Amino acid sequence: MSEALNYLLKIRPEAMQAYFSFVKKSGGSLDKKTIAIISVITKVDKQTKKGFKQYLKRALNEGVSADEIIDALLVAFPTLGLTKIVWAMDILIEMDLPEFKAENLTAEANWHQVVEVDDVIPDQTHYFELNGRGVFLYKDTENSIIAYDHRCPHQSTQITSESLQGNTLTCPKHAWKFDTTNGHCIENGNRPLNRVKHKIEDGLVWVYI
Ligand code: FES
Repeated sequence: MSEALNYLLKIRPEAMQAYFSFVKKSGGSLDKKTIAIISVITKVDKQTKKGFKQYLKRALNEGVSADEIIDALLVAFPTLGLTKIVWAMDILIEMDLPEFKAENLTAEANWHQVVEVDDVIPDQTHYFELNGRGVFLYKDTENSIIAYDHRCPHQSTQITSESLQGNTLTCPKHAWKFDTTNGHCIENGNRPLNRVKHKIEDGLVWVYI
């Protein structure tokens, strides 16, 4: 927290507690990713570099993808304007985060047919390669499917089926471990696996990569 907020909290505790409670409750209907994206945009709007970097990392930790951050910045163009978007892009480039490298973004993404949904065994994780990109699919016992990008959320290392043990995936580079039933990082790291858009049509699973 900033020194100014700490100061206000000390000298006006009731007013500030009410303010924090308002901020917390006002986002009650939004999911964590949406709140994280809005926070990033507010930091860009205010052009606070430290806050932008901090909230950007928080958003990535909440599972927001680099593409979603970039789309959010572009959608906010009417209020941010080009100058603030370029300001944010300069900081992104300076941060040198692997997920923002052009080759790791999905600008050229397309829908790909993966497998018949009935061939995905429940409570097991499956690996598929499509057009040089890998995807992990997990189907729970109620037939709900989650698809994950095979690139590690840490430094985009490509993870393949050799790194899979049951429903645990271990990145070969720095050994971050992930639970593929929900994507959470369960050891060594702090970011979840990146989810990939998917759909089921005519009994087939499709992914957007
Ligand atoms: S790149 Fe995967 S754990 Fe570091």
